[in-house]
Amino acid sequence: MNEAPVLSFRPAATDDAAHVASLVQRTFTSNHVPGWSIESLRSIHDANSVEALVGSFSEASYQSVAVLDKQIIGYISFAKPHLLSIVAVDAAHHGQGIGSSLLRDAIDVVEKANPALEVLQVNATERSQPFYAKHGFYPISPMINVLDRRFMRMAMWLRPRRMGWA
Ligand SMILES: CC(C)(COP(=O)(O)OP(=O)(O)OC[C@H]1O[C@@H](n2cnc3c(N)ncnc32)[C@H](O)[C@@H]1OP(=O)(O)O)[C@@H](O)C(=O)NCCC(=O)NCCS
Repeated sequence: MNEAPVLSFRPAATDDAAHVASLVQRTFTSNHVPGWSIESLRSIHDANSVEALVGSFSEASYQSVAVLDKQIIGYISFAKPHLLSIVAVDAAHHGQGIGSSLLRDAIDVVEKANPALEVLQVNATERSQPFYAKHGFYPISPMINVLDRRFMRMAMWLRPRRMGWA
């Protein structure tokens, strides 16, 4: 009898770099991030190359992966406590709550580790903006184009969560 696939979440490790780099390459394409030039997508791939990731794993504030049957299908990274740099979920698994789980867990850990932190920020693409909005991020900029990247800055004020106001 076939066993059901097992989904788990764990901190990212140096050995994951090649799999995470591959995930970012197949997730950040013109299909999923419309309006971005090939060069700007490539710059995201370069920023998440194996070498760059190995370096960032020791420096990032928070990084974790979603693993399904030993395959990395999701990744989240906070470059700094207040700055969510990237969330990527394999397109074959979009809409199954994996991005939400990665984000919720990350916010819980980052908030507990940084009790004085007031606000989280992220650059949201046109497609990912509803995802962040659903999780309590609000636009703090218009949609802008910078170096062929189209995004808006969004922020989440943490105190309402902490105080139970929201
Ligand atoms: C954005 C992303 C990480 C979401 O991951 P996911 O696992 O598909 O998200 P979830 O299944 O947890 O979705 C949660 C909610 O967000 C919303 N959502 C997610 N992706 C969305 C999209 N592309 N467009 C509109 N809404 C979206 C859905 O409404 C969903 O709500 P529902 O549960 O009521 O249906 C994923 O689509 C992705 O990797 N996109 C490409 C890379 C990217 O743009 N990353 C973000 C910029 S750094």
